[in-house]
Amino acid sequence: MAGRLSKLAVAGAAGTCQKTLDLLLSYEKTEKEPDMNDCLHLLKTRRSVAPVALTGPGPDHAELETILTIAARVPDHGKLAPWRFIVFQGEARARAGAIVVEGFKRREPQADEARIAAEAKRLTMAPLIIGVVSTAKEGAKVPAWEQELSAGAVCMNILLAAKALGFDGSWLTNWFSYDRDVLSQFGVTDAERMAGFIHLGRTDQVPADRPRPDLAHVVTHF
Ligand SMILES: Cc1cc2nc3c(=O)[nH]c(=O)nc-3n(C[C@H](O)[C@H](O)[C@H](O)COP(=O)(O)O)c2cc1C
Repeated sequence: MAGRLSKLAVAGAAGTCQKTLDLLLSYEKTEKEPDMNDCLHLLKTRRSVAPVALTGPGPDHAELETILTIAARVPDHGKLAPWRFIVFQGEARARAGAIVVEGFKRREPQADEARIAAEAKRLTMAPLIIGVVSTAKEGAKVPAWEQELSAGAVCMNILLAAKALGFDGSWLTNWFSYDRDVLSQFGVTDAERMAGFIHLGRTDQVPADRPRPDLAHVVTHF
């Protein structure tokens, strides 16, 4: 494990939560358990940070590889890996933003400049965005619903892995996750669906939490 982590170059980076990374990556049973209090703290306090509050530097190559490795480490009934990733970073974000703007203008030809400028920024604010594509298929050995749930788990793992590395982010779909013209220009086929775009970066703002569901309203004991 130590070798693997050093290969992924995650140890010692500023703001990382190494013990949670160890948990999210494949630590061996024989190795010392990570400090569960550390992991619990991350899980209990994580919350979303909007793209507008995210700045660079984003994840570097090794950090991105770590995030994607953890992303792909999700429950997956049937071992179908029914998802894939599209990475938007650097100059590609502006190209993606231009595609979003064209799609927006098609939908809302009367939109004013301010709204168009806002759309142009959708995929350029965060330094790194990972598009998670569900490739679930009907007629596979497990129901498509279960394959789609696995894609949701991928999105959550990305947020957790990023947080453990010292990044913040948010999981957004926006209107263009449902716009086939935009999606096709991102390389998403008509047989695929977007699970979401995970916007990642850094923030020095401590986001205020939002009210969380009252467990009494969502839990029953059978
Ligand atoms: C599949 C999915 C899509 C989402 N899409 C959007 C979106 O397009 N815009 C938005 O403001 N929030 C969206 N959200 C909500 C945010 O990701 C997030 O849950 C919310 O800001 C609360 O943040 P929290 O993570 O701190 O609970 C989406 C959530 C999910 C699960």
